[in-house]
Amino acid sequence: MMTGNVVVVGSLNMDVVVKTSRFPVEGETILGEEVHFVPGGKGANQAVAAARLGVRTTMLGAVGEDAFGQTLLQSLHGSGVEVGHVKQVGGTATGIASIMLAPADNSIVVVPGANGTVTAADVQASEHVIAEADIVLVQLEIPMEAVESAVEAAWKHGVPVILNPAPARSLPKQLLGKAAYITPNRSELQTLTGVDLSSRPLEEAVDALLDMGPGCVVATLGAEGAAWKQRGGRLTMQQSYPVSVVDTTGAGDAFNGGLASCLAMGRSLADSVGYAVRVSALAVTKFGAQDGMPTREEVERFHTNVGEAAT
Ligand code: RIB
Repeated sequence: MMTGNVVVVGSLNMDVVVKTSRFPVEGETILGEEVHFVPGGKGANQAVAAARLGVRTTMLGAVGEDAFGQTLLQSLHGSGVEVGHVKQVGGTATGIASIMLAPADNSIVVVPGANGTVTAADVQASEHVIAEADIVLVQLEIPMEAVESAVEAAWKHGVPVILNPAPARSLPKQLLGKAAYITPNRSELQTLTGVDLSSRPLEEAVDALLDMGPGCVVATLGAEGAAWKQRGGRLTMQQSYPVSVVDTTGAGDAFNGGLASCLAMGRSLADSVGYAVRVSALAVTKFGAQDGMPTREEVERFHTNVGEAAT
């Protein structure tokens, strides 16, 4: 029996991943090593992460009426995500992300396509789905009016929102004040607060963001894990685990899906952040944003193994 109900409002992309030994410099042409077409998009990745962890998950978003759109819907469905509220729009291509995967890092250009057609009215039409959720998860790869509408609907029905501020952009205080949790990475934290993390402590930026209204900041710190603080609380660090990294694409999405699923199952924030860090650590050991998302059993096995290794 599935417990927990997560609704994700966000993007679906086909990721066109080019493996290369290094990034080209401006104006340069180099030969890449491999190209892969794999399902992605921050919203869809987070939905797949949550569904594989065993919670009921519904996706709201849009794809084009094209082959990429069909593949993305099949991929979501195959992972157990309900896709009946993903609209299919004619005359607009499904979103794509052009990803260059170099040994040390990746760089991404997103062309939103159909993701850019999600309106506030689309979200309002699915308000009943949001009203039944335990957690609503939103990112910033769909138009702001749709993001605001999702947050408003969740607020109206008393459903906590996790706002993943990716890709980074400045956000209105009114929106931030309605987010129970906000989950920036370091660069998003800098963009949102203007605090330069190369010279200032992390907690200063976390406090600056808390002053803008969200109930809790959960900062993702890559290989260092995560840090979280509620207003009036203290900064708590959650270490990550040493793993063999294959592909970091979607690591933040794995974290957000893990956090959402655990909170939706009624677990504490401390437990949920720990769980999300493990989900993210496992996700980077496999290639592909969605293909790398672990199942609940894999996360539990990993927990047992790292727990034993630590004793
Ligand atoms: O977070 C990773 C995702 O960002 C990729 O799957 C790509 O589609 C972009 O949206």
